[in-house]
Amino acid sequence: MSCIYPIGGGKGGIGKSFIAANLGVLLAKQGNRVVLVDLDLGGANLHTFTGMPSVKTGIEKFLDKTVIDLTQVAVPTEINNLSIISSVNCSMEIANLFAAQKLKIIKAIQKLPFDYILLDLGAGTNYNTLDFFLSSNEGILLLTPEPTSIENAFKFIKAVYLRKVRQILNQREFKSVTDCITGNDNAIEMTARIIDAVAENDPEKGELLRKQLTEYQFKFIINQFRKTVDAKLGEKIEKVCNRYFYSKFHFLGNVCYDERVHESIYSKKIFINKYSYTVSAIDLSHIVKKLEKNRLAGRLESIGSHE
Ligand SMILES: Nc1ncnc2c1ncn2[C@@H]1O[C@H](COP(=O)(O)OP(=O)(O)O)[C@@H](O)[C@H]1O
Ligand SMILES: [Mg+2]
Repeated sequence: MSCIYPIGGGKGGIGKSFIAANLGVLLAKQGNRVVLVDLDLGGANLHTFTGMPSVKTGIEKFLDKTVIDLTQVAVPTEINNLSIISSVNCSMEIANLFAAQKLKIIKAIQKLPFDYILLDLGAGTNYNTLDFFLSSNEGILLLTPEPTSIENAFKFIKAVYLRKVRQILNQREFKSVTDCITGNDNAIEMTARIIDAVAENDPEKGELLRKQLTEYQFKFIINQFRKTVDAKLGEKIEKVCNRYFYSKFHFLGNVCYDERVHESIYSKKIFINKYSYTVSAIDLSHIVKKLEKNRLAGRLESIGSHE
């Protein structure tokens, strides 16, 4: 069973690529087969975080049909068990994917033969990003402790929910239920309203939506954490979200701010290798332990359901 973790968040520059790469390295060092997929089409730089100055092949070869299997463009990194599927050579036209191309990528990702598949997403809430985020039942939302970033995270959750609703309804139904929400509704108000509206129009679809949202799990990480920030911020956000949203929220932990992250990028070295003794590195290893625990629980559950 593969674990697919899209790593997203409304804002750019909050550390999605840094976190994806370093979690990937740590998971691979535990003996897992791991692939990092750079889905920041148009802004791809994940390879740099794995210490690679360039990558010769990637998603573009899969889209132009030079290869038929996405695994063929998975390039090994200097870390054992860790590969990368890059999009650094994708042209600007590919950055604006057609719906069919996007679906083709998502289906291929879901079939990749790895234990962990980490998807590094671009900033913002465009449909590509949201659909990649929803390619799995568990997504990792990244935020920093700043109020603007928290605000963006809620906007991202709201956009994910709306996209999920759109996947269930046709265009006409979608329009009629979204008429009931206003731009000023916060994510919590919007969710409640929209589910009520769907259920009112079509109780079966309302039930389906509720079920899918309940089964969805947002994991989240607070990056660039500083001593001056409330140490319980993550737990507080988790509590509020679990109380008001249908989905489950699971706080994976804080990752401390460290100047040496910047330095490692400049020197083209993998942060977790060069600075394995730092607080930030230890934070990342705690998160990996939680992901491993989660995967084990998922595997036990799937064995149980087959018995
Ligand atoms: N924990 C951290 N401590 C210090 N700097 C960080 C940390 N995480 C990210 N950064 C800085 O933020 C920059 C942007 O990170 P990046 O992963 O490229 O963001 P995103 O992928 O979200 O756009 C990095 O170049 C790095 O300098
Ligand atoms: Mg990035």
